[in-house]
Amino acid sequence: MNGKLNKKITITAALPYANGEIHLGHITSTYLPPDIFARYSRSKGYDVAFTCASDDFGTPILIEAEKAKKTPEEHVAFWNKRDYEDFTALGISFDFFYKTSSKENIKLVQYFFTKLYEKGHIYKQNIIQQYCEFDRKFLPDRYIIGTCPYCGAEKQYSDGCENCGRAFTQGEIKNPKCAICGRTPVQKTSLHYFFKLSSLASKLKNWLTSNERLQSEVKNYVLKWIEDGLRDWDITRDISWGVPIPLEEAKGKVFYGWFDNHLCYISTTIFHLDNTGRNGKEFWNSSEIYHYIGKDIIYHHYLFLPAMRLGLQEEYKLPDYIPTRGHLLLQGKKFSKSRGWYIGLKEFLAKFPPDYLRFYLTRITPYDQSDINFDWDDFDAKINNELVANIGNFLYRALSLLQSKAGGIVPEPTKFDDADTKFAEKIKSIASIVGRQIEQNELDKALKSILEFSSSCNEYFQHKAPWKQNVGNENCLYLAINAARTLGILLSPYIPFSTQKLAKQLNVELGKWDSAGELTIKPKYEIGKPEILFKKIEKEQIQEQKAKLKS
Ligand code: 2FM
Ligand code: ZN
Repeated sequence: MNGKLNKKITITAALPYANGEIHLGHITSTYLPPDIFARYSRSKGYDVAFTCASDDFGTPILIEAEKAKKTPEEHVAFWNKRDYEDFTALGISFDFFYKTSSKENIKLVQYFFTKLYEKGHIYKQNIIQQYCEFDRKFLPDRYIIGTCPYCGAEKQYSDGCENCGRAFTQGEIKNPKCAICGRTPVQKTSLHYFFKLSSLASKLKNWLTSNERLQSEVKNYVLKWIEDGLRDWDITRDISWGVPIPLEEAKGKVFYGWFDNHLCYISTTIFHLDNTGRNGKEFWNSSEIYHYIGKDIIYHHYLFLPAMRLGLQEEYKLPDYIPTRGHLLLQGKKFSKSRGWYIGLKEFLAKFPPDYLRFYLTRITPYDQSDINFDWDDFDAKINNELVANIGNFLYRALSLLQSKAGGIVPEPTKFDDADTKFAEKIKSIASIVGRQIEQNELDKALKSILEFSSSCNEYFQHKAPWKQNVGNENCLYLAINAARTLGILLSPYIPFSTQKLAKQLNVELGKWDSAGELTIKPKYEIGKPEILFKKIEKEQIQEQKAKLKS
């Protein structure tokens, strides 16, 4: 294998809170794009580690567990398992799925803290904390609801604003109320640790400006935050559920969830690699690193995350890419579980095949931060016109005509005419075009190119009309069956369940990405039984889904 093919790639997807089910919004920006990229990279022969974990700590989880009368451990164990099952049902192919509450992560978080403290990036200070005398609790983060100090939006939690996207520190929120009982809290003193984000501002700025691979719109946005001045960051919480702060004087205190969760990208990947006989840390530091996220957590991934790694003098490599995509709307409106304007992943997969969702979401999701709209009529149209009528039609015709005209045995080709030569040329060149687009993160554009290729397969077939004659159709049947395999390889990162079925029908292993341009299905080869791969969606199915939303 040459150097390039041996390239190492670490891929992570933002960690889902172990606090509720995965819905289509999460999938669109955060889980499907890295899965497509991971599948593509494996097919290229790259050395891939694709990992994720449940985000187990934090006040919202503690609050939910309390409501459900469960221990936080029970609560997160339930959601860790359920999320993983849902991801698997959609074909998200993590190499390993772990948890932020793992002993490996706790160890790494404490190590980071100790190092940052030694190097002077952390200081301590007594601060005034909100305390609810009624509930007898300190009230960090989501235990407080109030008004955003920056944009004035109401009903915001005390660690950040969903309206303007700013993260803020405790004590900044205006008009604080206890989230449990609604009473106004009192103030009490507590010892807290602060991460000096401000002292790393110039390093962060350098890193951002010199990294050409980050999306420039996001970079400019973040640079503006740095220009405006970064606030030091309170990383302490006076609650029982979290990574303990490893100091005697801090007994009973834990870290803020955003101090520990992104370190779990590192701890999980290294743990997984070490377990499979590799040197995890060496892999991490010599790999190309991708952290996939949605645009709501830009602040944390472009500032907190790199700052902590910079604070450790890059003992752990910083990301090369942070692919950041927009929010998913449902029929033009924001998702809201409480208002019933919502589709859970499990619920969706009970009605439609996973590949339909993978296909549709990829088709509508660009590589930028604009909002994406899930629309049932558009879903219907794209599946029926593109997946069924374009791709499905060609594949079925290629296989079934080979069956009916040649008994399922690939014929010996004769001299190519112009149309054959042109078509063979298309087969040869398409994988590198699509591959380049995928490597530029343009997964939607790459899928568009595959659709265009499939259209040209249909056109070639239409032009040759092999159904009209019993002799003289050898070249067409031969090229078409090979093109079906090419399509299978190109589509395998996108719709893996269907391409596996296709491989069975072709009676071949699809093969690696770089072989997609070769005519590897040879004369005399016998294919399997052709079957329709994609069923058309009926109008009633769409009506049923729309009606569900309205009720
Ligand atoms: O916003 C969220 O859903 C967080 N649980 C994401 C965490 S990503 C991380 F670990 F950096
Ligand atoms: Zn209270």
